[in-house]
Amino acid sequence: MTEKIVVKNLYKVFGPKPDVAMQMLQAGHGKDEIFRQTGMVVGVKDANFHVAEGEIFVLMGLSGSGKSTLIRLLNRLVEPTHGQILVGGQDVAAMSSQALVALRRKDMAMVFQSFALLPHLSVLNNTAFGLEVAGFDRKTREKRAMEVLEQVGLGSFAHKRPAELSGGMQQRVGLARALAVDPTLMLMDEAFSALDPLKRTEMQELLLQLQSEHQRTIVFVSHDLDEAFRIGNRIAIMEGGRIVQIGTPDEILRDPSDEYVRAFFKGVDVKKYLVARDVAQSGGVPLVRPGPDGRDVCSRAIEQLRAAKQHFGFLVGDDGRLQGTVSLESMLEFLQTGGVNVGAALLSDVNPVPDSMPLRELIGLTVKSPAPMAVVDQSGLYLGAVTQTVLLKKLVEEEPQTELTTEVTHE
Ligand SMILES: Nc1ncnc2c1ncn2[C@@H]1O[C@H](COP(=O)(O)OP(=O)(O)OP(=O)(O)O)[C@@H](O)[C@H]1O
Ligand SMILES: [Mg+2]
Repeated sequence: MTEKIVVKNLYKVFGPKPDVAMQMLQAGHGKDEIFRQTGMVVGVKDANFHVAEGEIFVLMGLSGSGKSTLIRLLNRLVEPTHGQILVGGQDVAAMSSQALVALRRKDMAMVFQSFALLPHLSVLNNTAFGLEVAGFDRKTREKRAMEVLEQVGLGSFAHKRPAELSGGMQQRVGLARALAVDPTLMLMDEAFSALDPLKRTEMQELLLQLQSEHQRTIVFVSHDLDEAFRIGNRIAIMEGGRIVQIGTPDEILRDPSDEYVRAFFKGVDVKKYLVARDVAQSGGVPLVRPGPDGRDVCSRAIEQLRAAKQHFGFLVGDDGRLQGTVSLESMLEFLQTGGVNVGAALLSDVNPVPDSMPLRELIGLTVKSPAPMAVVDQSGLYLGAVTQTVLLKKLVEEEPQTELTTEVTHE
């Protein structure tokens, strides 16, 4: 995995004497105290992270937590006070302004919440704007601009003015303009926040679709949890200028690092984000080991299931891979009909579920399936079982806790 961005010990202090604030930070003073004593604002404090090539990295946090400051530090729209920013191996913090301009033109594009379109230019010329600045001739830039307008579904609007377009369409132009220069890195600050929920979902899908066709590295600021979870490969949560947690949506949901992060998820419908691997349990269903003699395997397995008072078992090889599901009946029938190869005892209509299956789909399947379902990873390794009971328990556990706060006593 190649790192596109590496950020080390990055600080930003707004104010006339950042050194003073830096010293106070080193001495352990907090953002609020520094502001009270000096009037200087700590925008970003000791940020450390990396973003892999092709990754969508989301910055989340409350208003004022430093998201915009941090994303603007990456292309030095904000000058760092201290620390290192490597983009594609180049040290942005130490770069000459000339090199920086070149990098911004070729390699990084930024999309803002306010679409920042030029009202007197056509949609086509707005889209081609970055290319014009970069010195491409008219024919080349119009051809390329048309291509990206088609990609975002605005081909037939190329000759309109921005004011003739809806907000959602204007934001598409903003996106097209960024894509036109074919950047390897896109910085998107609340790019979809001004759109209504429907348009917003549409843009998220468009972004994911574009990403599946051509992987770019994207840093995306959002204060919307749904958005962050939908598009983010990893999420960094910021508080008061600090990054308090970095992880995949899954990791953060399952193991929030502190109360602040936990508070983010209060009232959130966690079920929406759970997948099969989150609910799979080991131990619930007996695992049957295959062997050279199918009849022997089944005789032993029948004993095993009866002792465990279970009706179903999973045949799992020594390599940990699932071979299939057996039931008491299927094995008895196998023995009675003189079967040899244990494969004949496997239930043909019970399929394993992939570990990434969303809970919603899983619930649908579980209701219809009499047998427990085996969850497997991409290479077929057995991860655990999902039964109706396991699922119900999980759903009850994950109910938002707010309604349970009043204690009832039965005395
Ligand atoms: N140019 C500036 N001069 C002084 N202080 C600034 C400047 N820009 C940002 N700040 C301060 O830095 C802190 C972080 O601001 P920032 O805009 O990065 O937050 P944010 O997380 O993007 O918030 P929002 O969700 O409201 O956009 C805030 O306390 C803000 O007041
Ligand atoms: Mg902001």
